[in-house]
Amino acid sequence: MLSSEIRDKFLKFFESKGHKVVPSSPLVPEGDSSVLFTTAGMQQFKPYYLGKESPYGKNVASVQKCVRTSDIDEVGDESHLTFFEMLGNFSFGGYWKKEAIEYAHEFITREMGLKIDYVSVFAGEPGVPEDKESAEIWKSIDSSLEIRKAGREDNFWGPTGEEGPCGPTTEIYVNGIEIWNIVFNEFYCNRDKSLKPLDIKGIDTGMGLERLTMVSQNVSNLFETDLFPSHPKTREEGIVADHSRAINALLEEGLIPSNKDQGYVLRRLMRRVLLYKNRYQLEIPVESEVFKQESNKFDETLEAGLKKLKEGEDPFVLFTSYGFPVELIKELGVEVDEKDFAEKFKQHKEISRAGAEQKFKGGLAGHGEMEVKLHTATHLLHQALHDVLGDEVMQKGSNITPERLRFDFSFQRKLTEEEKKKVEEIVNEKISEALPVNKAVMPKAEAEKIGARHFFDQKYPEEVSVYSIGDYSKEFCGGPHVNSTAELGHFRITNEESSSAGVRRIKAVLE
Ligand code: SER
Repeated sequence: MLSSEIRDKFLKFFESKGHKVVPSSPLVPEGDSSVLFTTAGMQQFKPYYLGKESPYGKNVASVQKCVRTSDIDEVGDESHLTFFEMLGNFSFGGYWKKEAIEYAHEFITREMGLKIDYVSVFAGEPGVPEDKESAEIWKSIDSSLEIRKAGREDNFWGPTGEEGPCGPTTEIYVNGIEIWNIVFNEFYCNRDKSLKPLDIKGIDTGMGLERLTMVSQNVSNLFETDLFPSHPKTREEGIVADHSRAINALLEEGLIPSNKDQGYVLRRLMRRVLLYKNRYQLEIPVESEVFKQESNKFDETLEAGLKKLKEGEDPFVLFTSYGFPVELIKELGVEVDEKDFAEKFKQHKEISRAGAEQKFKGGLAGHGEMEVKLHTATHLLHQALHDVLGDEVMQKGSNITPERLRFDFSFQRKLTEEEKKKVEEIVNEKISEALPVNKAVMPKAEAEKIGARHFFDQKYPEEVSVYSIGDYSKEFCGGPHVNSTAELGHFRITNEESSSAGVRRIKAVLE
């Protein structure tokens, strides 16, 4: 079956079951700063799970464009993409498990003519019981069906952002891959991770169009489906094909490449395909003036860098003065002596620390170094905001470019001039105290016990690393950071504004 037929079939099926078909929302979500991109079909419907009346009625279906960069390193294998379409049916207090499972079973087996390998249901954990009801429903539909049980990692979904609707899931596997995730939104996850039952029970399902097409067309790779007419063969061709779809979709929405937020992701995607184009002589299926300009800009940078490399320049200098990350240098086919590079990087840091101790003489900031400094400054800012504004402050987001840091946090009103000044003063005081920055790896429970700050929506492994700055700040964090706050320079807030309802955004620089 062609992918276009599958889209139609899905929407028609759910229309026949009393669902209103709602168009895809934009890839850059409107009024939701918790994520850069739309990553799931339910995103545009979030308020309706919380009791806001849906203008579309209680039951809806959509084909949602999504961008997810979390799997970017897996792209090029048989089943991961940065851009994909999600088929979904949703209910906000309309129907519940029985209907949701019956619809899914009917669609997969009768409409698509596919055989389900097995399904999975939530195994239960303290506070949330095992989902016996779903297992019973599956059994009543098909007594021979294999039902597997899994815990929170696999069979519990959400929330998006640090709080919101979430719940146990049941998942359908066909030809060995997960194709449909059916979420029973029955809880609200608070910022402290506690769950409270929702007033209305909701259904949120998501099925990747590309994966469904793959199993329907009985091919073993997404790139062999009709969604990728060029049928990329190699990993590099697959990456180019995937990224080009993402680039085209983002350009279509008027996004332009830049150094921040969504624009930065677009730039990274463009640069990656341009790199492969040069290296593997690949065609890039993107027709756009914006892309052409970005391509020219990138060519100039590459050309200058390559010339230097040919002249025998040390890859490390390319890194410090042209901002070529080591991966890029390797992609260019240049051999990098990793040990030598790491040694020079260490020395480079030593030198800059020594420089910092001499009150920042000499412009030592190479590529990457400013980000590292701003990252440590972000931790100081986070703690200082707590000290000045109280516990209402929760991290909502962070973004760092070589020029500035940006920090989003929950707070209900504009900051006063005095508050901003106080925050700056605290951060600068901590900088002047030359506090050591230390990393410790410890069990998650212990990190929570010592009150290390973290994002509540993130899943952390059992063992986490915690960065501490003197006795002043502790955060779950992957790093990297400077060794001492003495390296940071003078901290100044350049801007404070609203980012969305109840969320403030601070931009700050080190100078
Ligand atoms: N929200 C769930 C997901 O993204 C189901 O739609 O998988």
